[in-house]
Amino acid sequence: MSNQLRNKKILLVGGSAGLGLAVATMAHGCGAQIVIASRAAAEKHEELVAKVGPEIETFSLDVTSETGFDHVLQEIKEIDHLVMTTRPTITPASFVETDLEQAQKAFETRFWGQCRLIQKVQGRIRPGGSILLTTGIAGEKVYENNSIMAVLNSATETLCRTLAVEMAPIRVNAVSPGFIAPKPQEVEHYASQFPSGRVASAAEVAEAYIYLMTNQYVTGTTLVVDGGARLI
Ligand SMILES: NC(=O)c1ccc[n+]([C@@H]2O[C@H](COP(=O)([O-])OP(=O)(O)OC[C@H]3O[C@@H](n4cnc5c(N)ncnc54)[C@H](OP(=O)(O)O)[C@@H]3O)[C@@H](O)[C@H]2O)c1
Repeated sequence: MSNQLRNKKILLVGGSAGLGLAVATMAHGCGAQIVIASRAAAEKHEELVAKVGPEIETFSLDVTSETGFDHVLQEIKEIDHLVMTTRPTITPASFVETDLEQAQKAFETRFWGQCRLIQKVQGRIRPGGSILLTTGIAGEKVYENNSIMAVLNSATETLCRTLAVEMAPIRVNAVSPGFIAPKPQEVEHYASQFPSGRVASAAEVAEAYIYLMTNQYVTGTTLVVDGGARLI
């Protein structure tokens, strides 16, 4: 495990479940100070302490709302890394049948939520720090009934590249996972065709975030962790 995260302060927005929780747990194991924010993170404080480890901080934050940021920022003051893993709700559908209201909410959660957060936090990132966005395989490979997620992911990847230039020397990177366990049986079956032969564990994808936080020469990069899923 990387020593370079020892005593580094990491704000994980969307760190209360799934992939974000795996990043929080791994970074805590590297000696980082962990701050988790999500809509229900504060309510789940004891549960998150049991899963991640002692001395973590938790805050209630809904990235779709303008309110709530000031309190979190006043409390945390400065950070080294900002990691965003909020998950939008999107019901798979053909483009013509897409619920556009739901699609707009998905953009509010992932895309505009990220933008809002970056604008609020950027002045508080210490030298050597970074911003990590989360995208996904649907930005690169075309899947049936996934047009909104595809556009959302592509927008996130473009934001990553443009911010890496505009916000330098703060580094800005993204992680693009393929399929992370647990998944329904039909997805597990589909994954048996991947070069990796299976879906990823959350910890395998979390390692990409640790790498991107610690390697001082990587910026503007979307790191794909998909077991070769995009190749078939
Ligand atoms: N899982 C996969 O197979 C996969 C594949 C490719 C890409 N991804 C991407 O990876 C990211 C994480 O996915 P996941 O499967 O780990 O998701 P998850 O388990 O559903 O966790 C999502 C996190 O986002 C938080 N969240 C949701 N809406 C929020 C809001 N409005 N404000 C603040 N926090 C919010 C949730 O906490 P609260 O409910 O407490 O707010 C939770 O901590 C997502 O961006 C997803 O699109 C996942």
